[in-house]
Amino acid sequence: MSATTSIHGMWSTRLAFILAAAGSAVGLGNIWRFPYTAGEYGGGAFVLVYLLCVAAIGIPIMMAEILIGRRGRQSPINTMSSLARQEGKSQAWSLLGWMGIVSAFLILSFYSVIAGWTLAYVVRAAGGAFSGIDAAGSVALFGGLTGDAERLLAWHTIFMVLAVLVVARGVSSGLEQAVRWMMPALFILLLIMVGYAAQAGDVGAAARYLFAPDFGRLGDHVGEAILSAMGQAFFSLSLGMGAIMIYGSYLKSDASILQNTVIIAFLDTAVALLAGLAIFPIVFSHGLEPGSGPGLIFVTLPIAFGEMPGGSFFGALFFLLLVVAAWTSGISLLEPVVAWLVENRGFSRVRASVLAGAAVWLLGIACLLSLNQWSGYTLFGKGVLDLFDYLTANVLLPLGGILIAVFAGWVLPRRATEDELGMGGGMGFRLWRFLVRYVSPVAVALVLLNALGLLRGFGLG
Ligand code: TRP
Repeated sequence: MSATTSIHGMWSTRLAFILAAAGSAVGLGNIWRFPYTAGEYGGGAFVLVYLLCVAAIGIPIMMAEILIGRRGRQSPINTMSSLARQEGKSQAWSLLGWMGIVSAFLILSFYSVIAGWTLAYVVRAAGGAFSGIDAAGSVALFGGLTGDAERLLAWHTIFMVLAVLVVARGVSSGLEQAVRWMMPALFILLLIMVGYAAQAGDVGAAARYLFAPDFGRLGDHVGEAILSAMGQAFFSLSLGMGAIMIYGSYLKSDASILQNTVIIAFLDTAVALLAGLAIFPIVFSHGLEPGSGPGLIFVTLPIAFGEMPGGSFFGALFFLLLVVAAWTSGISLLEPVVAWLVENRGFSRVRASVLAGAAVWLLGIACLLSLNQWSGYTLFGKGVLDLFDYLTANVLLPLGGILIAVFAGWVLPRRATEDELGMGGGMGFRLWRFLVRYVSPVAVALVLLNALGLLRGFGLG
């Protein structure tokens, strides 16, 4: 018997789930990570692979994650173990939940540091720090922030406190209230930015860069570029670690999973593309470098804000938008951990949130130190922050995605998934089942193995 409600509460309306899940999906991944990663891999071809991954891998896996969550109605660890037990399968499936907890800690620790940059930039913009700034000045301003461990620590701490505050209040009073006004505000702010960029920047060059695929620009390491596009899809859609699973566990049984998923994936993709359209026209009209890395928006945008009339206002607004987006994503990373602590340790929500938040905060300190004091220490050529980012987006989330797809496609009985999806057993259902049984696991595994160089022995790499 599967419970029909979660002990942690339920979304009060269908809209609440969409707002929360879209709030989780839309974040720094869309506005900070998508543009700079697309820029590093030369634009159009990367964007095309990314869109293909969202459609053929992201959507079916998101449906699988929501349906597993709704069937289990518990934290990902307990959901996986109880669903596996029901089917007489190994308890080892709960490892997926454990992997998700590890991913949550790693992602949120660096995510909070980047969100901290964003917070710092709200204040800088509002204070007029961008007015008349040139490229060298902007690089120096950004470097001044990332080089200052104490300043980074202060902003990282503030962001973690914000995230803990919402999660501690619980699903319906905390998460739901927070996303209800944040998401629409975010949309409006982003549209304003795109409008400005269209009128002041080079939209033509930006559109060509983002939408005309040139596979030659993927670089020498095509396998790596494809893995990064796929990793970006997982990261942006919040897939592969249980965040969407736990949000699904608060979804009422009669809501359509297909419809919700399509809306969320559409909104998430739209925001990423809009972010590209807000940022690249300015990049090109100012002769800036699209492939300059994680600092892209923090180095290039202040130059533009510094020139535009009302730039202090628009700059502060833009970075505020990013903080809000990061906030609604951060809470979804904390939620699976907190739900597990409440279920298995008997903690109150408040205690669980504070404890999990404190652990992430500590790990975040290693991330922020890797930008300055510890910049000499690297593993595989990456500092702690870059390593956590790469390991989660390009390895752990895709691995989690394979497990979720296999569980929904092979472990859960066909009937169970058919009932849960509630779309009948027709074409749509058969296509979904084909995608999660064969296409997603095989495609994700091939892309992963190829990029890790493990297919070379078979003459495929
Ligand atoms: N999707 C969010 C973004 O794009 C980040 C995020 C939130 C996330 N929850 C997640 C990423 C779970 C991976 C897994 O910014």
